[in-house]
Amino acid sequence: MDTVSFYIAFIAGILTILPIAGAPFGTRPNIVFILADDLGWHDVGYHDSIIRTPNIDKLAAEGVKLENYYVTPLCTPTRAVLMTGRYQIHTGMQHGVLMAQEPRCLPTDEVLMPQKLKESGYTTHMVGKWHLGFYKWACTPNHRGFDTFFGMYLAGGDYFNHTRLCHGRRLAAWDLRDGDQVVAPEYVGKYSTIVFAEKAQEIIKKHDPTNPLFLYLSFQAVHAPLQVPERYINMYKDDIRDESRRIYAGMTTCMDEAIGNVTRTLARRGLLDNTIIVFSSDNGGAKLYGASNYPLRGQKGTLYEGGVRAPAFVYSPLLSNRVRGTATHELMYVGDWFPTFLHLAGGNLHGVKPLDGVNQWHTVSAAMPSKRTEIVHNIEPLRGKPPRVKDEPWLTNPYFDIRVMASIRVGEWKLITGRKGDPTWTIPPELGGGSVDPGRPTIVELYHIKEDPLERTDLSRDRPDIVNKLLERLRYHSDTSRLPETPTPVFDTSDPLHHNMAWGPWE
Ligand SMILES: *[C@@H]1O[C@H](CO)[C@@H](O)[C@H](O)[C@H]1NC(C)=O
Ligand SMILES: *[C@@H]1O[C@H](CO)[C@@H](O)[C@H](O)[C@H]1NC(C)=O
Repeated sequence: MDTVSFYIAFIAGILTILPIAGAPFGTRPNIVFILADDLGWHDVGYHDSIIRTPNIDKLAAEGVKLENYYVTPLCTPTRAVLMTGRYQIHTGMQHGVLMAQEPRCLPTDEVLMPQKLKESGYTTHMVGKWHLGFYKWACTPNHRGFDTFFGMYLAGGDYFNHTRLCHGRRLAAWDLRDGDQVVAPEYVGKYSTIVFAEKAQEIIKKHDPTNPLFLYLSFQAVHAPLQVPERYINMYKDDIRDESRRIYAGMTTCMDEAIGNVTRTLARRGLLDNTIIVFSSDNGGAKLYGASNYPLRGQKGTLYEGGVRAPAFVYSPLLSNRVRGTATHELMYVGDWFPTFLHLAGGNLHGVKPLDGVNQWHTVSAAMPSKRTEIVHNIEPLRGKPPRVKDEPWLTNPYFDIRVMASIRVGEWKLITGRKGDPTWTIPPELGGGSVDPGRPTIVELYHIKEDPLERTDLSRDRPDIVNKLLERLRYHSDTSRLPETPTPVFDTSDPLHHNMAWGPWE
């Protein structure tokens, strides 16, 4: 290296360190990652929602809002991307959500975020919903890098009695554990959001501050079923007439209160000043269960923006005044937390498989441009293909089978192929309700997301050059995919009847 480039590299190095070194932390920051389940774009107060989330709003207002931030369309794949920093197509987790009796999990040859943070000296805790598989112990969170785990393996269970229905039966089995132990019966009648907040607060109170803390707080809320203590529903009795929306709003406000409680405990314990809190939803809201992604198109499970663009923010007293209270429109992705947190932890990528995430700390803390230019929203080879494709001009393109449900974002362009799921724009009940149906969607759709974030104008016929380029990128990524595993569910040995009526490992 010659002298000039040495100095350039040296100064660039200082600039990269500055946002951190300039902040008052000589020690590594605590990291609290809060994941909401199925929370819609329009369901945080700061997105002009009727739903009141004062704690979320305050943290977002004093932090950096991530307004161009993406997750995957479903629970399991988003959690897989979060834990690995790798696209779901690279871990075989691109197909649907994990079912209770499927013998699969996030592959155990993947190195997870808590493992790496632990290696860097963090104490690692998980509270809440896992949903990345549990058929053998090696799949479960406290065998994969979390020092402690308190929570549920599955999804969609009862919020008060912590059970989840069994396949084909009207029988429910326990799904709440402390470490390996089933503790559900002790918590019957206690609402999961409140229980999870209490557990998180206990962890914070007991935390020995000589080591930095990593807490992954993964709420069951606000996923179906629609359940919450009455007093939260009553908060909306005058404002929201639609029953599902009213209960959902109550669930969201309860989660917001939980976040307030956890933040207050961090402050009282003297930890908040050296903590980075990240908040994110795992996918778009489910409109059947009261959520709203307005004004975005589509919903949970779809590749439209309503399925994959999530409310998110970073809060931290460590952020400089220059960025506090701002919103960034730089492109960010749930897979970016892995390298971002590792950077904050001063860790390394030793042993980690090739990442799809990029370190976004400078985007968040110093308003630098994002290094991300592309997001593979999903490539789902096993999803049923649309029946009528005869008249599609792209059918014979040399790159990618357009009948496959897939979507990719490159720069401001977004391509969607295959099945679309719900293609409507849905208006929440409090704004009049109803939905706008675009009619039969075409198989290949192209949008310019910056100019058309609501995906109103399909430009595929005007810009065949861009379509070709994006189909080629889909082909490139598709060629690197790990095939999704779809083992046959095991209904006998996995049956909770053989496991004290609890969901748990059977291998
Ligand atoms: C828990 O509630 C569900 C309904 O949400 C019910 O089917 C189940 O029997 C209840 N289980 C227990 C143990 O109370
Ligand atoms: C928040 O803390 C208050 C006071 O301890 C408690 O009464 C309330 O149930 C908590 N709420 C949640 C959602 O955790």
